[in-house]
Amino acid sequence: MNKTLKVGLIGTGGIVRGAHLKPGWLAVPDVEIVAACDVNEKAARALATDFNIPHVFTDFRDLLKLDEIDAVDICTPNKVHTPSVIAALDAGKHVLCEKPLAVSTEEILAMRDALRRTDRILMTAQHQRFTDISVAIKAWADTGALGEVYHSRVNATRRNWLPTSPGFIDPKLSGGGPCMDIGVHALDTALWFMNFPRPVRVSGRAHTNFAKGFDIPGGWGEWDRTLFGVEDFASGYIHFANGSTMALEASWLQHQEKEDFSATLLGKKSSIQWPSGHFHSVSNRTLIDGKVLPHAMRQPGHTEEIIAFADAIRNNKPSPVPIEQTIYVIAILEAIMQSSLLNQEVLIPDFT
Ligand SMILES: NC(=O)c1ccc[n+]([C@@H]2O[C@H](COP(=O)([O-])OP(=O)(O)OC[C@H]3O[C@@H](n4cnc5c(N)ncnc54)[C@H](O)[C@@H]3O)[C@@H](O)[C@H]2O)c1
Repeated sequence: MNKTLKVGLIGTGGIVRGAHLKPGWLAVPDVEIVAACDVNEKAARALATDFNIPHVFTDFRDLLKLDEIDAVDICTPNKVHTPSVIAALDAGKHVLCEKPLAVSTEEILAMRDALRRTDRILMTAQHQRFTDISVAIKAWADTGALGEVYHSRVNATRRNWLPTSPGFIDPKLSGGGPCMDIGVHALDTALWFMNFPRPVRVSGRAHTNFAKGFDIPGGWGEWDRTLFGVEDFASGYIHFANGSTMALEASWLQHQEKEDFSATLLGKKSSIQWPSGHFHSVSNRTLIDGKVLPHAMRQPGHTEEIIAFADAIRNNKPSPVPIEQTIYVIAILEAIMQSSLLNQEVLIPDFT
């Protein structure tokens, strides 16, 4: 590969402007952003002008025809991820794609088939794994400090922060509400701390309690009630093959003091809370409280995630967030929704 890593951006909305491009890609040495694509040509052109990007497209298939592009960064609404991921892999590009990688296991399996046809890297953009505290907790957990984790509580709940754009609230674009949007972050991070025990069965419930009404004012402003077609709250209970269990909650709107984005892992040696780093344990009948501290000198999670992606490409390393892990994250989220629809527990197959 050339020394300069040439990148194309697919989707040029909020997360590209707010995190992926700057500080993200601009913080990685020897990278050139050569193309920007968006179905909204105005958005793509504006980004290209602001950041000196030479090529603009409105169809990702045209962007993928550029031979010089080594990798694409896909930041479109969730339901548009799969066609562009598969087309990009088939065009020989490495792919970084925003979360949720897809909205069904069927789509993920199709991506895995595409991945098996190539020698490219596909990475899910789970930036929460790359924050300084997450890296520190993971290193601590990997020493065996938790012991066997028998239960975990995972929360991604907001009081009144509902993302208003159609890409989030229109099921045709988003594929789901807070469970897919933010539950995915806390779930992925917790499973990563636990080295991905295999989920086997899930029960879940999804509600639309407040989003169709006008009682709760949105922190990001108003949204189109007629377009809103996803849940505003979901909860799930997950059983793993090793006997461990997990309770998951995700919401955009609910009566609570403030956002709760956290995971508590209960192990037989100690418990840990993310992201506070507080742990609780016992030694020789003495109760012990402590705190895992972040490692110094890391950049924001999104930037570290992009650095890891570029490093994997350049140095022939495995994907920093591989599809073999993401498939179980999506399977759990999908099963929560299915369980709610069917009013029964849903089994998760072995995808190996
Ligand atoms: N990791 C995070 O912290 C985080 C935060 C926000 C969003 N996201 C994810 O990033 C993705 C994009 O979110 P956003 O906030 O930037 O949304 P956004 O609505 O601001 O931008 C999405 C852009 O994609 C464009 N688009 C739609 N269909 C397209 C297509 N077929 N081809 C090319 N462009 C297309 C839209 O016109 C829009 O400009 C979503 O998957 C979302 O879940 C992640």
